[in-house]
Amino acid sequence: MRGKRYLAVTVLAWLTIIVLGWYFVYDISRMERAEAQHKEELAAIGAVLYAQNCVVCHGPLGEGVVGPPLNVESFRGDPTENTEVYDLIHRTIVHGRPGTTDPLWVRLDNGMWASYTAMPAWGAEAGGSMNDQQTAALTYFIMMGDWNRVGRYIPAPTPWIDSETGEVLWHLMPDAQGIPSEASQRGKEIFVNKACISCHTLGQVGGFVGPDLTKVGAWGLDEEFLKEWIKDPPSVVERAPRYWSNYGGPYQFPVRAVHGRDASIDETVPDRIGEMVEGAAGQDIDQPQMAGGAVGPEFPIPNTQSLPPTTMPALGLTDEEIEDLVYYLLNLK
Ligand code: HEC
Ligand code: HEC
Repeated sequence: MRGKRYLAVTVLAWLTIIVLGWYFVYDISRMERAEAQHKEELAAIGAVLYAQNCVVCHGPLGEGVVGPPLNVESFRGDPTENTEVYDLIHRTIVHGRPGTTDPLWVRLDNGMWASYTAMPAWGAEAGGSMNDQQTAALTYFIMMGDWNRVGRYIPAPTPWIDSETGEVLWHLMPDAQGIPSEASQRGKEIFVNKACISCHTLGQVGGFVGPDLTKVGAWGLDEEFLKEWIKDPPSVVERAPRYWSNYGGPYQFPVRAVHGRDASIDETVPDRIGEMVEGAAGQDIDQPQMAGGAVGPEFPIPNTQSLPPTTMPALGLTDEEIEDLVYYLLNLK
């Protein structure tokens, strides 16, 4: 009798252990699944925010143009595990990095482009427009999201045709400085007729796929580059900067040209850029590190990743159209 009772108790004990254990395991995996789902949801929100706010500078596939490429291997990972990467990205999004408000590219002595453009601050705590959940969602998206999802969320262009009269709103596109008004008009016509406007903002109208070209003449691009670019974007190897200012300077290196003008080696250029960079002076910069882990006093830090192919198509312009369009664009300042 005693033996039987003992057996019953043992069986019961084991059953309890098994049931509880099973429940425990089940619960953990349920929690894991819920957490994984939460991450995916954040990343999905991030894709929408990226399309609305970041595409014009970092490209629709994160391929980089005004800002550096973000679709790089070194940024991928689990946001809760790779906290260093998470912090670097998140801090940059919240606080931005100093530089010029409008893009400013400079041809370096080694023939490559460096960018002195600012990364805007997005976090509310730094005066930006986004809350904590939004900046986190963006970071999740960059670390684990699907870049191919971005395209569908890019906002529709601001119309350049009056819906009532059917007329093109030429006056909402800027006239270039110092060139005849017919030349500006001709440039605008090519820009509209060749569909540049469906992807690029010009003045108060146009699209949000590529960068805003309203002041493209002040970026520092040279004529040769711009012509090559418009003729056949995918064939242009050095299509975008290889260096970013990384926190606005200092600029201790020889600069070959600025604002499209060959300045050979102009020692004063670094100072002049320094003056143009708002907020660079006296700013407490706590990010001496960039993607890939490069650290140090060498500014700007080169982007060692090779740039992915461009998403801008060749649009079949004639040489004459390119000539006229570039004349207009380079004088937009
Ligand atoms: C006006 C152009 C512009 C916009 C818009 C912009 N960025 Fe940037 N971003 C930059 C520039 C320029 C840099 C490089 C700054 C530097 O290091 O000097 C940068 C750097 C970054 C970096 C750091 C990359 C690295 O390799 O260190 C991240 C991450 C980033 N941006 C994310 C975003 C996100 C997310 C958005 C949208 C909320 C966004 N950016 C919108 C221009 C922009
Ligand atoms: C289908 C969309 C699309 C069309 C149409 C388009 N672009 Fe672009 N453009 C882009 C994107 C995206 C970029 C950003 C660079 C990249 O992704 O490689 C870009 C970049 C640029 C740049 C910056 C140069 C650089 O170094 O990256 C210029 C200038 C430019 N485009 C001019 C034009 C002109 C002029 C036209 C019309 C002939 C045009 N684009 C038509 C999407 C487009």
